[in-house]
Amino acid sequence: MQAKDWTPASWRGKPIRQVPEYPDAARLEEVERKLASFPPLVFAGEVRQLKRKLAEVAAGKAFLLQGGDCAESFAEHSADNIRDFFRVFLQMAVVLTYAGGQPVVKVGRIAGQFAKPRTEPTETRDGITLPTYRGDIINDIAFNEQARTPDPHRLLQAYRQSAATLNLLRAFATGGYANLEHVHRWTLGFLKDSPASERYREIADRISDALRFMQACGITAETTPQLRTTEFHTSHEALLLGYEQALTRIDSTTGEWYATSGHFLWIGDRTRDPEGAHVEFMRGIRNPIGIKAGPSMTPDGLLRLLDILNPDNEPGRITIISRFGADKVADGLPPLIRAVQREGRVVVWSCDPMHGNTIRSSSGYKTRPFDRILKEVRDFMQVHAAEGTHAGGIHIEMTGKNVTECTGGNTSAISEADLSSRYHTHCDPRLNAAQSLELAFLVAEELARNAVHRQAAE
Ligand code: PEP
Ligand code: CO
Repeated sequence: MQAKDWTPASWRGKPIRQVPEYPDAARLEEVERKLASFPPLVFAGEVRQLKRKLAEVAAGKAFLLQGGDCAESFAEHSADNIRDFFRVFLQMAVVLTYAGGQPVVKVGRIAGQFAKPRTEPTETRDGITLPTYRGDIINDIAFNEQARTPDPHRLLQAYRQSAATLNLLRAFATGGYANLEHVHRWTLGFLKDSPASERYREIADRISDALRFMQACGITAETTPQLRTTEFHTSHEALLLGYEQALTRIDSTTGEWYATSGHFLWIGDRTRDPEGAHVEFMRGIRNPIGIKAGPSMTPDGLLRLLDILNPDNEPGRITIISRFGADKVADGLPPLIRAVQREGRVVVWSCDPMHGNTIRSSSGYKTRPFDRILKEVRDFMQVHAAEGTHAGGIHIEMTGKNVTECTGGNTSAISEADLSSRYHTHCDPRLNAAQSLELAFLVAEELARNAVHRQAAE
């Protein structure tokens, strides 16, 4: 049903946070008009398909894996980067699918994840104060006045980069790259190269056995399309609303409004004011949406957002992405879960173990210790087990490259002193390829335990 008194532009009448100051408003308007004439990046049918899958997650029958860059950048736009991300992401998905015995819904933070909310509007270095870096869709990370001035042309560049990225991802997903047998072979290669990974070999061996058995039954990538293709969806934070508005279109088959900049959009922890512009915009699009929930989210505040954003309680529409921090999730999450349960609201519960666990290393790098990330996921899963609800997914910042941004991990153990060697992120520290896969194996151990309980209960 169409939201009442809503248009793609109605957010403009509401108070807004995290908005860049463009010196040339006329040029911005011109760019937004141009964007509005460009083709959509995703198709409403695909968006509805993702919503149906998320409804399965909400019902406890599937698991959501969402991940990718904190911020995509123009400088690092290459086939290699996209391929390396996709490879690790698929490896993670296979491990989680096997361990949980459930489909894994794959959603990348990619092909549109450019705009960043910032704590400070300005940054000062050596006595010079400039606007803060807000992501490549807005300004440049270099520290000089020209670079930091918001430039409307960047919206067009972000659109074109998103289109090219999505094109390659679609090709990978259906053109043979996602072949399950290959994906599993990459994982075996990873385990062979890292002596610290003994513990993960058991799951990997069981996957090998399952594939061998299927092969013996005649179920192979050649005979079975599901084994050589995959479904993959895109997501990003809906922060830069002028961009989102320009790409919001009426779907001709249903007559409903869809954001077509990506399949799934989320509202950040800093822009979820129920009276504000971001919530207003999200209210009227029919896409599945995420709500980030940090320690300042109250049960009443959450219910209010659910009333505004999902008045019909449509399954698959809302994913609550909690990001409390490893020490706060055990106490902070249960009140939210109980409020949602009490009101009979259907949601996906997902865990972002990244944004509540950011610290500064002694040398000044923003980093995240792997064991804190893992602890938050484990506590999240324990809370859900205790509440009798489904720990529906994880939301992580990761890359397929061998960067040194988060400390720890067994297979690639990164120390604080290592951070400087390959610290490439434009914003927050990401898990590298080895840490990402390792996290998947560790989460898989928890999922496997839950699966055993589920089976026993059936
Ligand atoms: C993010 O996901 O990159 C982000 C900024 O998260 P949050 O809004 O939860 O801080
Ligand atoms: Co981030």
